[in-house]
Amino acid sequence: MTGGVGADTVRAMTVDVDTCREHFIEHFGYDPDGAVAAPGRVNLIGEHTDYNDGFVLPIAIERETVAVFGPRDDSIVQFVSTSTDEPDEIDLDAPIAPGELTWANYCRGVAAGLVGWGLRPHGCDVLVSSDVPLGGGLSSSASLEVAVALALLNGEVDAMPPGELAKICQTAEHEFAGTPCGIMDQSIAIMGQAGRALLLDCRTGETRQVHFDNPDLVLLVADTEVKHELSEGGYAARRQQCYDAAAKLGVAMLRDADAESVAAAGTDGTLTDKELMRARHVVGEIARTLAAVDALEAGDYHRFGELMVASHESLRDDYEVSCDELDAIVELACACEGVYGARMTGGGFGGCAIILATAGAADRVSETVAAGYGERFGSACPIFATRAAGGARRVL
Ligand code: GLA
Repeated sequence: MTGGVGADTVRAMTVDVDTCREHFIEHFGYDPDGAVAAPGRVNLIGEHTDYNDGFVLPIAIERETVAVFGPRDDSIVQFVSTSTDEPDEIDLDAPIAPGELTWANYCRGVAAGLVGWGLRPHGCDVLVSSDVPLGGGLSSSASLEVAVALALLNGEVDAMPPGELAKICQTAEHEFAGTPCGIMDQSIAIMGQAGRALLLDCRTGETRQVHFDNPDLVLLVADTEVKHELSEGGYAARRQQCYDAAAKLGVAMLRDADAESVAAAGTDGTLTDKELMRARHVVGEIARTLAAVDALEAGDYHRFGELMVASHESLRDDYEVSCDELDAIVELACACEGVYGARMTGGGFGGCAIILATAGAADRVSETVAAGYGERFGSACPIFATRAAGGARRVL
């Protein structure tokens, strides 16, 4: 989907629940009990700060994973997905370990976490279907984890505190998928609200819902559709460098450091060059995130856009998690009239960039960026517009 982002494209692009229900009946032979949905996300600002106890400002997007569920009278859970022919099955009465199927390991991890938390989900059949591009930097895995968790909880969205549920899903990702992610993606999938960005303090778990519903603005998501090699080891390595830098600075987490002490520790050789760069990004990004909330609340989108660009530059130069494709989108977007700012979003090394523009400029910006990107890389990048969507909820 390239080009125009007129009314049609801005419309919610959600998975059709009735079709999912039909798939469920076809597969399991009976009518399901219910269905839940959990969204993907983009982060407006506050990147690589969550695992440093910092602040993040994501929104849930209008792409989601739907999980349709039905009860069983034994302790078995069967998982099927509309995007693969390979189903999976676990027994809740036996120890749950990672299996062969990558997609199903997220589901297994969540089931293990719920059992470990002391909840005893009933056996059930679960069918999942998602329109969050897989592995595309929009948190398809967090939306899957949260949707499956709620299906296992029989659709009872309030069965446990949101922060606890987010942690169970995060742990599933650490222990069953081998990804040492922070808490942002799972939190926004659960706590997202329509028309709001979520300011999350990743240290205390405190949240604030910030208005992000100005109809004169459009948020475009441009997908590079690339995933560079570095994404696996690069994320864990950055995380370690942050912890090493914090230890050398004598603080628990980089959240506790300030720009002056980081600069001084760079000059006197306490930090290596890379540690200095990583710490400078994190400390700067935490400050930018709080400043961005002020700008948003004041309706100062020019300032908000400047902070987005500063965030991108810091991720590119100090954190070294951008790539040519992301840089090109940001550069092309920022050269367009009507654009407040643009930046990579998520972990980086590929994935998506976001562009904040006036609603009137959205189509033109989208076309210009897609065309310029196509000239440079051989094919246009898909671009879609999204509003801040709601978080996980029951849909059937
Ligand atoms: C990935 C992780 C998040 C966060 C971002 C970077 O999306 O899953 O926890 O660390 O990268 O901000």
